[in-house]
Amino acid sequence: MSNLLLLMKSVSYYITLVITDAFDKQGLNSLIKDTFDKYLFHYFFKDIYKVPDIFELDPFTISVIKRYFPESKDDSCLFEVLDSELALVCGILKEDFDEANFSFENLASKYGNIKFKCLLQPKKSEVPVPFFDEEMDIKNYVKYSNTTKSVKQLKFACNIDMDNNFNQLKENLKSVLPDVLQWRSIHDILQYSPKTNQGINEPQLYLKVKNVWTGAHDETLCLRSVNCNHGPGASFWIGTQTEDDNTMMDKALKIEGIDFYNQKHQFFPSIEFCLKNKIKVTCGVQYAHDIVVVGPGSRHW
Ligand SMILES: [Fe+2]
Repeated sequence: MSNLLLLMKSVSYYITLVITDAFDKQGLNSLIKDTFDKYLFHYFFKDIYKVPDIFELDPFTISVIKRYFPESKDDSCLFEVLDSELALVCGILKEDFDEANFSFENLASKYGNIKFKCLLQPKKSEVPVPFFDEEMDIKNYVKYSNTTKSVKQLKFACNIDMDNNFNQLKENLKSVLPDVLQWRSIHDILQYSPKTNQGINEPQLYLKVKNVWTGAHDETLCLRSVNCNHGPGASFWIGTQTEDDNTMMDKALKIEGIDFYNQKHQFFPSIEFCLKNKIKVTCGVQYAHDIVVVGPGSRHW
């Protein structure tokens, strides 16, 4: 029991660095508008607005992800972030993130031959179908990212290990992250681990193009994760409360026929799905230079 508590309260990280063009401005604006119009209107009119029966919407079933604006890297609000199930830390990356260093062009020219398993995924409306991986290198992914308007297949470059490469990127990331959110800092329970755990005490890189998506999941070993968005695009995040984890698994199987753990990352629950099944959701937009911190064991997509 005490070990479990130690783990849940410890600071270990699943660090991701995302370079994304997942939404163009117009697409993002309409997504935000749709979401707010449909589901979050009661926050503005909650005293007078009658909730429509169709969603069985309880005003406390859906909320927006809390945003934090620390004034310095040791601002005490960062410790509050560590107690959250899902939180947005805004502003810190903006100051010193080296724009040119993180561009797709720079990645292609400096790290173009690095290979990784690229996730080929259907559009969200087409799930569930089998996913599969394709071996790819960074220069070909960058080439693909320039032609996405004419191709139908979505390709998501995820979990690219950064341990033997990307030193410049990692140094830049280390210089901008506060200690409490940094891998192998004094706050990291795995700081002395001689073993490199990819994505846990060593960051991983994600490259996104418009419309790629991540299915609902818990983080590796249910540890906390720190997700830095370099931009220029933004990502839309949805999370649930851990108390609703079992409900989500049961409903995924009964309604959608999806075995949550055996069909990992294939289930993208809509907000309607959550509301109809009384699963509490929190959602929000991670703009360029925002950090999303996912709490231990929090399910998100
Ligand atoms: Fe995650």
